[in-house]
Amino acid sequence: MVGLDWNEVCLFMSSEIVKGNQGAVDEFVAVSNRERFQRALQCQNSGRPPVWLMRQAGRVLPEYRALKEKHSFVEMVRTPELATEVTLQPIERFDFDAAILFSDILVIAEAMGQKYGFREQGGIEMEFTVDGAAEIDRLNAEGVAERLDYVGKALPMIRSALGDKTGLIGFAGAPWTLANYMMEGGSAKEFLKAKELYYSEPKLFERLMGKLTVAVTEYLQMQIDAGVDALQIFDTQGSCLAASDFMAASGRWIGEIIAGLKNAPPVIVFAKGVNSNWSSLASTGAQVLSVDWTVDLPSLREALPKGVGIQGNLDPYLLRSTPEIVAREAQKVMDSLNGFSGHIFNLGHGVTPECKLECIESLVETVKGS
Ligand code: CP3
Repeated sequence: MVGLDWNEVCLFMSSEIVKGNQGAVDEFVAVSNRERFQRALQCQNSGRPPVWLMRQAGRVLPEYRALKEKHSFVEMVRTPELATEVTLQPIERFDFDAAILFSDILVIAEAMGQKYGFREQGGIEMEFTVDGAAEIDRLNAEGVAERLDYVGKALPMIRSALGDKTGLIGFAGAPWTLANYMMEGGSAKEFLKAKELYYSEPKLFERLMGKLTVAVTEYLQMQIDAGVDALQIFDTQGSCLAASDFMAASGRWIGEIIAGLKNAPPVIVFAKGVNSNWSSLASTGAQVLSVDWTVDLPSLREALPKGVGIQGNLDPYLLRSTPEIVAREAQKVMDSLNGFSGHIFNLGHGVTPECKLECIESLVETVKGS
């Protein structure tokens, strides 16, 4: 484009628009990462898909590990300046299209009265287990936003650091996944207790889920009011339910949360491994479904109601392989959706500590086409 005068620029733009080649126009007028992300959330993107990675903040980054020498995980989550710094680290290093708030889904449990921490040997340890009516009644679902004001303080700091350049994602755990951690008392080999409550004491199960729904709705509303561009609801334990029970035990509560939000930006639902009924998952009000690497994207696209986007779904294992393999496989994921306007590139689950930085670089370069 160098050397063109204004008339020639206008001619070029109008001919590309007539050809329907919005991508070329976007490259020319330099669409920001944030705008690209916002458009894809609405299934209105053209050109390359936006890219960010689940668990991009923390774990794999040397700059995160250096901070962790000085501060515990919980301290970083609870200190707005530190949470801001960790949220921005992957943006500075990889220039992702969106940042995700550095926090954890278990802050909700803490705000309701059940603290979380880490076991020496790895994994989450809750202060006690929620395993009966007495503990459920003791959980305080009212006023969680006040007790999570450190998130309310971090988000505007992050927003202002990102400006209009990069999107910002807020998040929470789905009530079902939260209930599983809260009832097991942390990480567990098998998640059985929430399931047992669902089948054997449906009224008590509803009492717990009702409380979690109130707490998560209030928490997400606070994030909306602080200016996030999207919300993601993580239901990573959704796949331990039978397909026929998923909507009653989990999807229903996700739907109530989404319906209860005011002025909500698009909501991304990640129900990992819940891959058997796409239209009922979308009926929760999800604007985008985030899917794991076992899902065939073209078939998903066919099955989804119009206007619902797709996030995913490179196998995170590949980030342990080589930059060349990552480039090849990431390209395949993009090709499989053939320029779908609602594709947000992501992994099928999160970045793990074993992932290689050069593989993440290769992924971003491939998606950005540079
Ligand atoms: O995606 C991001 O980068 C944003 C921050 C984020 C974290 N956890 C930070 C974190 C998000 C969105 C989560 C979500 C989360 N937390 C989920 C749902 C999604 C998923 O990834 O499965 C769940 C189930 C949790 C609860 C939790 N937190 C677990 C099971 C663990 C692992 C325990 C362990 O020993 O590895 C965590 C820890 C955690 N959350 C870390 C980070 C950066 C690692 C802490 C560290 O090692 O420094």
